[in-house]
Amino acid sequence: MRAVSQDRLGDPDVLQVVEVERPVPGPSEVLVRVHAAGISPTDWVHRRLPGFLDQLPLILGWDVSGVVEAVGVGVTIHEPGDEVFGMLPYPHGHGSFAEYVTAPARTFVAKPAGIGHVEAASVPLAALTAYQALVDTAHIRPGQRVLVHAAAGGVGHFAVQIAKSLGATVIGTASAAKHELLRELGADELIDYHTEDFEKAAGEVDVVLDLIGGDYTARSLRTLRPGGTLVSLVLSQTTPLREEAAALGVRHRLMLVEADQAGMLAVADLLRSGALRPVVQASFPLDQAAQAHEVGESGRVTGKLVLEIR
Ligand SMILES: NC(=O)c1ccc[n+]([C@@H]2O[C@H](COP(=O)([O-])OP(=O)(O)OC[C@H]3O[C@@H](n4cnc5c(N)ncnc54)[C@H](OP(=O)(O)O)[C@@H]3O)[C@@H](O)[C@H]2O)c1
Repeated sequence: MRAVSQDRLGDPDVLQVVEVERPVPGPSEVLVRVHAAGISPTDWVHRRLPGFLDQLPLILGWDVSGVVEAVGVGVTIHEPGDEVFGMLPYPHGHGSFAEYVTAPARTFVAKPAGIGHVEAASVPLAALTAYQALVDTAHIRPGQRVLVHAAAGGVGHFAVQIAKSLGATVIGTASAAKHELLRELGADELIDYHTEDFEKAAGEVDVVLDLIGGDYTARSLRTLRPGGTLVSLVLSQTTPLREEAAALGVRHRLMLVEADQAGMLAVADLLRSGALRPVVQASFPLDQAAQAHEVGESGRVTGKLVLEIR
């Protein structure tokens, strides 16, 4: 099969299309023919830096939308021909920048019929991050004020919609040019971070999703009401602030997204109901993976980027 592989760490040009053996599903695994694979900052972090994945050559990619090609022994929930989507286990389950991938059967859930593979592939990792942060970590409730940083990005635009669907008042930070789209997606209040201090503009909030890190973490902590929760997602740039948080009567949690069947089922329901709409800025063929990474690494993407593999 064709795959995008790298035999060294570095800039986007380390990504090369190569021929590799098609994987075979083991017991309780499925083999999925990948139609599209979402691209995330997680991909370029691991493309560039030594970290959890040190074995080269390496095929990146955690987001999949495709069709079940074969099932391993004992799989009862999927069969060949099923259209599915899901997030491969992070970190070691990577490999969706390829024509086929194997993973535990419960990695995947049925793709909503009304959504194409490119849109579906944009969803799993980013929407699960937003869902696990808002629902499983912050336990958001209707009526709460939720501040989403980088609201126009991959995770942010899903977080805005998920928080809104759960009855929250949603405040987002983004460049002014992106405010109209975010209003359409349900944001109630928008802050242009280039011209306004978000601490002043947001007022008191119950939950913050920090998708930026650095000085945003301590500043975000100070926007919280007593009892509120700051969920930090950029672990590499975030100092844990448990003591400061305790002194203010708030919580600070660092979160890493996990492959999660219950979360995927909830996200799929939101897609079917229309409460969640993926925004795909652009899609690229497999042999333009390096260009896609360059665009993504600019940090200016609206919504998601996707590789179209079939
Ligand atoms: N912990 C986890 O499990 C986990 C999971 C997923 C992602 N992440 C991390 O979360 C971060 C965001 O991921 P993503 O996929 O959403 O990234 P992304 O799609 O690349 O985010 C791009 C967006 O960020 C906005 N942005 C950049 N600087 C900003 C600022 N100072 N204030 C407000 N918005 C700003 C940009 O808007 P403008 O053009 O307006 O600047 C752009 O729309 C990444 O660092 C990623 O590695 C962590």
